[in-house]
Amino acid sequence: PSSRVLVTGGAGYIGSHVLHALADAGIPAVTIDNLSTGRRQAVPASVPLVEGDVGSPALLDEVIREHGVDAVMHFAGSIVVPESVEKPLAYYRNNTVSSLTLLDACVRHGIDKLVFSSTAAVYGAPERVPIDEDAPTAPINPYGASKLMTEQMLRDAGAAHGLRSVILRYFNVAGADPAGRTGQATPVATHLIKVACQALLGQRPALSVFGTDYPTPDGTCIRDYIHVSDLADAHVLALLHLRRGGDSLILNCGYGRGASVREVVRTLESVSGETVPATLGPRRAGDPPQLVSAAARIRERLGWVPKHDSLEEIVRSALSWERRLDQERAGRDGA
Ligand code: UFG
Repeated sequence: PSSRVLVTGGAGYIGSHVLHALADAGIPAVTIDNLSTGRRQAVPASVPLVEGDVGSPALLDEVIREHGVDAVMHFAGSIVVPESVEKPLAYYRNNTVSSLTLLDACVRHGIDKLVFSSTAAVYGAPERVPIDEDAPTAPINPYGASKLMTEQMLRDAGAAHGLRSVILRYFNVAGADPAGRTGQATPVATHLIKVACQALLGQRPALSVFGTDYPTPDGTCIRDYIHVSDLADAHVLALLHLRRGGDSLILNCGYGRGASVREVVRTLESVSGETVPATLGPRRAGDPPQLVSAAARIRERLGWVPKHDSLEEIVRSALSWERRLDQERAGRDGA
């Protein structure tokens, strides 16, 4: 039987998009997810879902043996920046310690291929944009630090044990599967595009714009928003690179252009024809004014060609997903 890739956190937002992309490409997978924030329905029917914790060595041994795992994609983890400031140790446990357990299992079973979900948060508040992969890493919150520590473990385990890795540093991931199979369903939304969609649909009173006095053209922060389906494709390419025997890589995932908070709101209003209720508020602690990726390396090294590089498409898919969740909830409440 052909080997399977173990996807941790496959019931979550990005992991579930990757499982669908793998299934579309005919690549067999198995996922471990504790369903703490993920949803069972997000996992494609063809993929076995093992409910449990990535921090359990015994569970990892069992799944790796039973499914003939030859490669790992590691998504499971915590991702809310302000929460990481309040509960740093939980972040080091869920992100760094769990990754250590997973790397240990890879070495124990002779698995030499791992794709890792890292983040632009490892760059902290960069001095220059666009940010390339050689820019200094200097995280400004425990979330970014917990991911950077895993990057360091991967580098060292690569040198000592031949574990090859592709580290993907995500910029601002948004949007949803164009076919509507999955999307962002985390109970507590903090990310701009999801929050703006919820405000537009009346699920919250208003979007609060965090800061209008930044040194940017319209005074609001600029981010490099990338469609989750393009990000999923990058993961499939990273896996194929490693399976071909390719070397370890660190790659930014972004389009190389930024949009401000106001531009995001305007785009959502133009695709929906409705107004986003918004209030102008103070800055949120720890937000750098601009985060824009230098986008050349991933195209060169993986041959990645984005298919959804448009803010309109990102917000349109995010909004239809949010509407779908709304209907689901209405269906449940009505039942
Ligand atoms: N924003 C608002 N109102 C909101 C939410 C966000 O104005 O209700 C603004 C933020 O201030 C920021 C921009 O929208 O300027 C984007 O904020 P998000 O919370 O959507 O995303 P971040 O840029 O803060 O976070 C992203 C990733 C993190 C990563 C971080 C690195 O989601 O995983 O970049 O700085 F750590």
